[in-house]
Amino acid sequence: MGDSPVLGDYFVIKALEHGVQVIGLTRGTETKFHHAEKLDKGEAMVAQFTEHTSAMKIRGHAILYTKFGTIPVGDEIRDLTK
Ligand code: TRP
Repeated sequence: MGDSPVLGDYFVIKALEHGVQVIGLTRGTETKFHHAEKLDKGEAMVAQFTEHTSAMKIRGHAILYTKFGTIPVGDEIRDLTK
């Protein structure tokens, strides 16, 4: 990845319901929420980790696509093709 976190891999979050929240948490000694993005059903967000964002929390029913695989997010794990 080199020195810059902005050169890191992208990931995609696709919302499967209205109001999915993508919450960014700060990099550094204090871990705090700094950003909340709301996605409507069918919307996708393409993002990276940055110098400001080291972690994120996804709330709601969504699919997370990363280089590690495809991760269903939400209370029920249903067929991702539907
Ligand atoms: N402005 C933030 C940043 O550059 C936005 C951001 C980047 C973000 N990646 C994210 C917010 C992932 C939530 C999740 O760090």
